[in-house]
Amino acid sequence: MSSSSETFQTQLSAVAAETEALLVKLLAAPPIEGERARPQRLLDAMRYASLNGGKRFRPFLVVASASLFNVPRERALMAGAALECVHCYSLVHDDLPAMDDDDLRRGQPTAHKKFDEATAILAGDGLLTFAFDILARPETHPDPTVRIELVMALARASGLGGMVGGQMLDLAAEGRFDNGKPQSFDEAGVATLQGMKTGALLRFACDAGAILGQASAAQRKALTQFGSVVGQAFQIADDLLDVESDAATLGKAAGKDADAGKATLVSIYGIAKAKERLRALVTEAETALSSFGASGAVLKEAAHFVADRKS
Ligand code: IPE
Ligand code: IPE
Ligand code: MG
Ligand code: MG
Ligand code: MG
Repeated sequence: MSSSSETFQTQLSAVAAETEALLVKLLAAPPIEGERARPQRLLDAMRYASLNGGKRFRPFLVVASASLFNVPRERALMAGAALECVHCYSLVHDDLPAMDDDDLRRGQPTAHKKFDEATAILAGDGLLTFAFDILARPETHPDPTVRIELVMALARASGLGGMVGGQMLDLAAEGRFDNGKPQSFDEAGVATLQGMKTGALLRFACDAGAILGQASAAQRKALTQFGSVVGQAFQIADDLLDVESDAATLGKAAGKDADAGKATLVSIYGIAKAKERLRALVTEAETALSSFGASGAVLKEAAHFVADRKS
C-alpha cells in the first residue's frame, strides 16, 4: 500500500469513528426542543439503520473537501452526519420488499427483517427528516445563509431530480411499470440514472465542503465535478462487485442485479468495458482536482479507493 493510501485509510477510519460517535449523540433517547417524545421502537430502528458499520465514505468526502478551506472539523462532521442519515435512509428503503427486496445489509439483517416493514419505512422517513434538522442547527454553521444553502443542496441531491428520481429510473429499467415492459437505457441513460441514484449524494458530499468553506464559484465547480465523477465510479464499482464478489465479503447480497434486470454498464457492455470506464472516471476525477494542487491528494486517493474497494 502506498503511503498516500495509508493516509486515506487512516483519515477514513477517523471520520468513520467520529461520525458514529456524533450519530450516537444525536440519536440519544431524550427528546429535544420542539419534539414531544422519541418512540423507542422508531429510535431503535433509526439507530440500527445508521449505527451499523457503514464505510462512512460520504462523511469522509465532506470532511476532506471542507478541510481544503480550513473549515472547523465539528461543522464538517455535522454536515457529514446529516448526509449519512439520508444515505442510510436510502439503503433502508432500497432494501424493502417493494424495492430490491434484500435481507442482508452491512452484514446484518436489513431493517425490515430486524423490525418490520412499517417500522423500516418510518425509520427511513425519520432519518431523512433528521438530516435537515442537523443541517439547520447553528453548530453546522453559524451563518444561516450557509445553512440554507446546505439544506437546499441536500434536498435537491436527495429528491425528485436526485437520488429518489434515480431510484425511480432504476426500477423502471427492471420493467416494474408499463405492464412489465422494461425501459431501455443506453450508456448515456445509465450514466444519468446512476448519476442520480448514487452520484447526487456523493456530489453533495463534496459540494457541502465547498459550501461550508464559502469557496469561490470555480472551487465549488471543481469539487462538484469531482463528486459527480466519483459518484458515477462508485456505482459502477458497486455493480461490478455485485457480479464478481459474494455476500460474505460485501455484507449484502451479490449476483442479483442481472436477474432483476437492473440497468448497469455491466449489463450493457460487460465486465471488461465497465472496468475500463471505471478507470477512465478515476482519471477524470483526479483531473477535476488539478487546481487544488498537493492539497487535493487525499481526495485523489479517495477516487482510487472507490475503484479498488472490495466491499
Ligand atoms: C451502497 O453504498 C449503496 C450505493 C450507493 C451503491 P455504500 O457502499 O457506501 O454503503 P455503506 O454505507 O458503506 O454500507
Ligand atoms: C443503491 O443502489 C442506490 C441507493 C440510492 C440506495 P443499489 O441497489 O445497487 O445498492 P445496494 O447494492 O443495494 O447497496
Ligand atoms: Mg437499488
Ligand atoms: Mg439495492
Ligand atoms: Mg448494488
